[in-house]
Amino acid sequence: TYVVTDNCIKCKYTDCVEVCPVDCFYEGENMLVIHPDECIDCGVCEPECPAEAIRPDTEDGLDKWLKLNAEYAQTWPNLTAKRDPLPEAKDFDGQTDKLTKFFS
Ligand code: SF4
Ligand code: F3S
Repeated sequence: TYVVTDNCIKCKYTDCVEVCPVDCFYEGENMLVIHPDECIDCGVCEPECPAEAIRPDTEDGLDKWLKLNAEYAQTWPNLTAKRDPLPEAKDFDGQTDKLTKFFS
């Protein structure tokens, strides 16, 4: 599966949802997550994210993100069409440790 990570938080560009063939993105206030059981591992969303926030779970160190995606994909609503990025997206793009600072 692919996983949404740190840099999506407070950016939420949503280019990813436009290309996903199985519509497996789910939307929270500050970020999106991917439903790990629905993702078919096609990889097309990865290069579409301007914040480079989408990673394959074969990369090291993504355990906490995989857990977070799996958890919130159960309760957040499905998002299938692109919308405007968050207004502060450019300022927050590239900030570090967003999970502890901004995730709610
Ligand atoms: Fe959707 Fe493919 Fe990205 Fe999985 S890898 S979230 S199926 S676009
Ligand atoms: Fe987030 Fe990137 Fe999608 S910033 S909403 S994972 S395009």
